[in-house]
Amino acid sequence: MSDATVAHSLEELERRLGGLSLRGQWQADANRPQNVRKGSNGAVHIEPIPAGRAHAWRWSDIVPILQYACKAMPESYTARRALILHNPGLPRGTTHTMLSSIQIVKPGEIAWAHRHTINALRFSIQGGPKTYTIVEGRKLSMEPYDLLLTPGWTWHDHHNDSDHDAIWLDGLDVPFTLALNQSFYDELGEIAQQPGPADSLGPLMFRPSPSQQGEAMRPLRYPWAETLRAIEARGGEPVDPLNGRMVEFINPRTGGSVLPTLRCRVQILPPGFEGRLQRHTSSTILFVISGEGSVRLDSGDIAWGKHDTFALPNWAQHRFVNASKREPAVLFTMDDSPILFAFGYYRSECETAP
Ligand SMILES: [Fe+2]
Repeated sequence: MSDATVAHSLEELERRLGGLSLRGQWQADANRPQNVRKGSNGAVHIEPIPAGRAHAWRWSDIVPILQYACKAMPESYTARRALILHNPGLPRGTTHTMLSSIQIVKPGEIAWAHRHTINALRFSIQGGPKTYTIVEGRKLSMEPYDLLLTPGWTWHDHHNDSDHDAIWLDGLDVPFTLALNQSFYDELGEIAQQPGPADSLGPLMFRPSPSQQGEAMRPLRYPWAETLRAIEARGGEPVDPLNGRMVEFINPRTGGSVLPTLRCRVQILPPGFEGRLQRHTSSTILFVISGEGSVRLDSGDIAWGKHDTFALPNWAQHRFVNASKREPAVLFTMDDSPILFAFGYYRSECETAP
């Protein structure tokens, strides 16, 4: 039978395309997860479906399982005794671009030296002056709520010379880096780096007054005592109706985010705060330093309390609420907005004033 006598059908076309390693654009569009709606004139409008689920990990669940992990395996069993906060709606990661874990290092243990192209940070929860990370030979102590950076491809090892467990929140751009297939990893071959003198860079940087741009060496540790001073200095400023007050950690060399892929901030919700409904194309991981409240989403409310961690997917409608009428709520947040700003993808929208 000649080709001219075969009926031309879409089904036959797609069968032939498959055999030639070709695919119709209409096939790709039909399989892509996205929200499609039609305007009154029939024009199609497309926007993303939030990637993954909003989810909270409770400190009361984390602590006992960390202790169990310490008994079940020594630090030397793996590079890091870290429990990944796995989003139940994603194949990997805490959001579709970021991964967080809670890590414990027992007294006397060392999480041995390695480096990777993945950018990483730690937000210390339990620690002290004898708990420290060495980054490129710089010894950085890890006191409660200090922020430490290990930018991509920097050697780092973690030490606990104290007599208490050290616990911190890790934040990494793992899913993003893996999606680009850019993951490189080296072990040092030694347990630890030789530390230089203790890190002693000058005052750190917080928006909105970047007065130290051009500093020769950038900070890799943002001590909580300085963060608190920055928060107090902002105390008299107007409260943003979406997010309360925000203090952003910045890289003084660029005036931008602390890591090329991750923005870190502290968010303060004043007593009784109930934020406006908002959404943005960045995804966020939040750790509760103090206070209690909830985030209200289309999928329901997520309540949170001290030391809980929760994830907000990109483009998910949400509203922050502080449950206390007397105490502020203070949260450490990391988000992937630097990636979106770099490529012009960032969008946001919010409820207008009543
Ligand atoms: Fe690492």
